[in-house]
Amino acid sequence: MQYIILVTGGAGYIGSHVVRRLCDAGHDVVILDNMSLGRRENIDSRARFIEGDILSDNDLKKALTPDTGVVFHFAAWKAAGESMTDPGKYAHNNISGTINLLNRMLTCEVRKIVFSSSAAVYGDPVYLPVDENHPTNPANYYGYTKLAIEQNLNWYDRLKGIRFAALRYFNATGYDINGKISGKEKNPANLSPVIMEVAAGIRRSMQVFGNDYDTPDGTCIRDYIHVSDLADAHIRAMEYLFRTDSSLLVNLGTGSGHSVLEMIHTAQEVTGHNINYEVVDRRKGDPQELVAGSDAANRILNWRAQHSDLKTIFETMSRVYLNS
Ligand code: WQD
Repeated sequence: MQYIILVTGGAGYIGSHVVRRLCDAGHDVVILDNMSLGRRENIDSRARFIEGDILSDNDLKKALTPDTGVVFHFAAWKAAGESMTDPGKYAHNNISGTINLLNRMLTCEVRKIVFSSSAAVYGDPVYLPVDENHPTNPANYYGYTKLAIEQNLNWYDRLKGIRFAALRYFNATGYDINGKISGKEKNPANLSPVIMEVAAGIRRSMQVFGNDYDTPDGTCIRDYIHVSDLADAHIRAMEYLFRTDSSLLVNLGTGSGHSVLEMIHTAQEVTGHNINYEVVDRRKGDPQELVAGSDAANRILNWRAQHSDLKTIFETMSRVYLNS
C-alpha cells in the first residue's frame, strides 16, 4: 500500500478493532494514542505506535505527515455523565483536539477522515427508528461535542475539500469475533461490560437504572452493535472515500432493540453465571428507547450487521471476561 493510515485512539476499544482489520488487509498503520483510555495489550504489533496527544502539535507532527492517505479519528472522552459535570474537559479534548487534527491535515494536504461519531447527537428520539434525518438535539455535552465536530467537518469539506465519513454508532458492544483483542475497558460504565464484570466477579452486583419505562419489561431499549460489525463498516467507509470524492454521514446499528433485562438474561444463559442486580431509580438523561434506522449504511456501503445477535455479543465477551 503506498500510503500510511493514521488511527487516533487506536489503542482504544473500537480503534484497536479497526487497526487489526487494517493490518490484516496489509495496510501501513500508525497509532496515535495518549493511553488515557487505551490498553497496551490491544496495540497491534504490526502497527507503528506513537504515545501522544491530538492536542500536541509536536505529537501530531510525528504522527501525521504528507505520506498519510487517510485518518481514522477515535481519540475522544466518551462518558456522557462526566461530560455534564466537566464540559471543559470534553470541549478541550474532543473539539479543540479535532480542530488541531484537521489543521494538521490541511498542512499535510491529507484530505480523507473517517470520524467516530455517535447516536448521542440525536438526544431523545421524536420518532423510531432514528434515521439520519432525525433532528439532532443532544441530551448531553458529550453528544454535543460529536455534533460540533460533524459541523466542523462539513465546513472543512466545503471550504478546504476534506472529505469525511461520519459514522454515528449506536451502542457498541462485544469483542473481536476472532478473539485477537482481549484488553478489557478501564472502569466501564456501559451496560454490557458492567454485566460481564458482575459475571466475572469483578463487581459483586450491578444497578438497573429504572424498570418503570413504557416498554415490555419496563427497562430501556437500545440498539446493540457488535464492534466487529463496526470495524467492517469503517473499512467500507474508507473505501468509499477513496472511491468517490464526496463525504458521508450514516448511522451504524442493527435496527433492532433489546432491553436491559434481556441483556442480563442472555448474559446469564451464555455465561452460566448469575448476574446480581438491584433496580434503582432511572438515570437522568436516558431515553426510553433508541433504535437505529441503518438503511443508508446498507445502501451506500453495502454494510449490514452480521455478528450483533445477543448470543454472539456475550460469547465474544465471555472469552475476554471469563476466558471461556
Ligand atoms: C444502556 C442502557 C442504561 C449501565 C452511551 C452513550 C452513547 C454511546 C453508548 C459512545 C441504558 C442501562 C447501563 C448500568 C443500566 N457512547 N444501564 N445499568 O447510555 O445508551 O449510551 O453509550 O458513543 O453516546 O451515551 O449506553 O450502556 O450507558 O446504557 O441499567 O450499570 O443500560 O440506563 O438504559 P447509553 P449505556
